[in-house]
Amino acid sequence: MRIIVANDYEAMSKKAAHIIVSQIVLKPNCVLGLATGSTPIDTYKELINLYKMGVIDFSDVTSFNLDEYFGLPKNNPQSYDYFMKANLFNHINIDDEKINIPNGMTDNVVRECAEYEKKIEAAGGIDLQLLGIGRNGHIGFNEPSDHFEPKTHLVQLDEDTIKANSRFFDSIEDVPTKAISMGIGSIMKAKKILLLASGAEKADAIYDTVKGPITPKVPASILQLHPDVTIIVDKEAASRL
Ligand code: PGA
Repeated sequence: MRIIVANDYEAMSKKAAHIIVSQIVLKPNCVLGLATGSTPIDTYKELINLYKMGVIDFSDVTSFNLDEYFGLPKNNPQSYDYFMKANLFNHINIDDEKINIPNGMTDNVVRECAEYEKKIEAAGGIDLQLLGIGRNGHIGFNEPSDHFEPKTHLVQLDEDTIKANSRFFDSIEDVPTKAISMGIGSIMKAKKILLLASGAEKADAIYDTVKGPITPKVPASILQLHPDVTIIVDKEAASRL
């Protein structure tokens, strides 16, 4: 694991964007695994800036998002489909046909999950997977558990995750309790992984990920076994390392 400690959220975001840019410059038709949440927002802003400056071209890039709430329509402002359009896709020249996000409104979740895995494989696998991390060490929506989920699957969200995400909803009752998420196995298959964390509330999760035992109780801890992981943290998230 390569750990980069950035001064603050802004510096973390710039470094992350530059790593993503290098990936696109080296392989213009690369496959990116993308994440939602507060953490990558400024990384996406920086990518939009660099796109507007003519530094990068997304026209051949394929993207796969990690997860989507189950039962939220795409036009719901809290859906991850909506988030990705608002925070990145509407501002760059990515081809709509090359954007992949699990369909949270599917009437056949088993088939949706199996097809998502197949699509990732057919695209040649993920070259660079961007990850945030939950306070409980989750990646994607892989919550602490007694086993590592191999594939895209339907998840029952943790109470802590529902509480953390309720800040975006009118009330905690409105937060979906289920989501479709790429599995730990799907994430581990990515050729490169870039995990970002900012703020003191992530310090324990980062400590457990980097220094703790590898356990499904801290899903991100399995990244210790991946051959190419870069973690960019700000000083607060790095405070226990
Ligand atoms: P956050 O979420 O970026 O909003 O903190 C990260 C996550 O839960 O994976």
